[in-house]
Amino acid sequence: MNILVITGSAHKKGTSSYLADSFIKGAEDSGHEVRRFDAAFKNVHPCIGCYSCQKKDQVCVFKDDMQEVNPELLKAEVVVFVSPIYYYDMNAQIKAVIDRFYANNSVLRGADKKAVLMVTYGDETEESAEGAIASYKGMVKYLKWENVGIVSAKGCYVLDDVINSEYPKLAYELGKSL
Ligand SMILES: Cc1cc2nc3c(=O)[nH]c(=O)nc-3n(C[C@H](O)[C@H](O)[C@H](O)COP(=O)(O)O)c2cc1C
Repeated sequence: MNILVITGSAHKKGTSSYLADSFIKGAEDSGHEVRRFDAAFKNVHPCIGCYSCQKKDQVCVFKDDMQEVNPELLKAEVVVFVSPIYYYDMNAQIKAVIDRFYANNSVLRGADKKAVLMVTYGDETEESAEGAIASYKGMVKYLKWENVGIVSAKGCYVLDDVINSEYPKLAYELGKSL
């Protein structure tokens, strides 16, 4: 399968990146082809809601790194969203990418795709990820994709927390199981 992993964190060696690595290893061990788009290191302008893309053949007014990820997004059979929790939600870098899906909304909506969410956060209560999970589930339902797994990694404030947790194994196994 073609898998696209989109990450949001600016920490190259951070908690969510570690989970992304684990997931990718599992998926590659199962023979899947994985592409990774690290939004924090890309130039992605936030959507300004000009609706130009809806009027002009799905062409966005911004010519930025979405042009790199869009073909991968269209061909992906699985899209994996990986983000740290910032104020009870996914972070701005990954949200900017999601909002820019709008240019391809008519193609993406109803496409035969599966989705995964992986979030990391310092709090010890899973309530802290409820906003991000609700937002993800709403998006997946709207796009008519299939949610095939959520890793909600609580108590993961810094890298050592996640390394010493069960979550990398869960992420690996989720990638391997696809
Ligand atoms: C701006 C900001 C907001 C944050 N908000 C939350 C939060 O609402 N709940 C929480 O548990 N942790 C919060 N954190 C902690 C991060 O989620 C946590 O450190 C996470 O592991 C960072 O992931 P990363 O290493 O992949 O960037 C916040 C961190 C930052 C920098």
